[in-house]
Amino acid sequence: VKRVLTGIKPTGVPHLGNVLGAILPAVELAQRSDHESFLFIADLHSLTVRPDPEALRAQTRAVAASWLACGLDPERVVFYRQSDVPEIPKLSWILSCSMPLGLLNRAHSFKDALAKGATADEVNVGLYAYPVLMAADILAFDADLVPVGKDQKQHLEITQEAARRFNLRYGEVFKVPDAVVDADVMTIPGLDGRKMSKSYDNTLVVFDDEKTMWKRIKSVATDSTPYGEPLSTEDDVLFQLTCAIQPDRRPSLARQYTTGRKNPELSGPERDESANYFGWGDAKKALLQAAVERFAEARERYRHWTTHPDELEDCLRHGAEKARHFARAVLDRVEASLGLSWI
Ligand code: TYM
Repeated sequence: VKRVLTGIKPTGVPHLGNVLGAILPAVELAQRSDHESFLFIADLHSLTVRPDPEALRAQTRAVAASWLACGLDPERVVFYRQSDVPEIPKLSWILSCSMPLGLLNRAHSFKDALAKGATADEVNVGLYAYPVLMAADILAFDADLVPVGKDQKQHLEITQEAARRFNLRYGEVFKVPDAVVDADVMTIPGLDGRKMSKSYDNTLVVFDDEKTMWKRIKSVATDSTPYGEPLSTEDDVLFQLTCAIQPDRRPSLARQYTTGRKNPELSGPERDESANYFGWGDAKKALLQAAVERFAEARERYRHWTTHPDELEDCLRHGAEKARHFARAVLDRVEASLGLSWI
């Protein structure tokens, strides 16, 4: 039985990149009988951006509701909030004592902050030590597989390195995990063509109401191809997103783009031919329709969970109990190897 683990930071309602890049692949793995899954909300990680407390509460619920909406079965998987498992930050400290400074100096999140001009007084130690906490998340549960988007690959490499270094000094204490990056959804583009990310304000949130989604999609910049002329699929984010949401839609959508017609089979010089034109507005509608169709059930379940916060809370509390049981076993091993305990 392989142990799968992954987490999501509560920095907002999960966007399409989170859903396709992390939530759905993890939920799919969790449904296999030869896998045992640990899925969590990385609320301690979100503290590096010092969120407003009310916002953090709301966003933690939004992430929990998204997991459940996407099909996570809390009876089958261990589903918890990171901060409910004190073994994790404890292990984080332990790991930080064998983590070389040089390794963290090369970590993207910290380097990016410096590149954006932040000074040493503006960057907090939490951001710097972010990869250590992430290593603790993973190593505390003896995870075999960690499904993540491409942007987290470096963090996984740091985790593997941390485990190896510790093992070298103290014996075979940690299991060295593998990253699982799905080749098809390595990086979901945002509405402006860059990677979809809350920090670029280019996200599409499939749990938003249709009006809000449409407003976001409508804002996508397109070229000035005249109505009825072929559209280029190359580098087109509307095309990429629609296909990422509904892979089966790709051939028919590609035909609509290259013919500039909604129904390419309808031909003839009828007077009203322009009613059959397929322009950028139609490409945008296709994206909205794909999102609404594919996530119809998930959107309904999301609404249920966000309007029943007590049920959510119960579910997370129950999950934390299970999680602590597993993490405690690993910590016992770690503490014994370090000489922190007598057993
Ligand atoms: P976070 O919260 O930024 O993102 C959650 C997951 O979504 C993936 N993702 C994407 N995938 C495809 N395309 C995109 N545009 C896109 N944007 C985000 C991320 O790769 C990630 O898998 N540090 C982590 C959270 C974390 C974690 C862990 C993950 C904390 N501890 C332990 C795995 C294991 C993070 O910030 O992800």
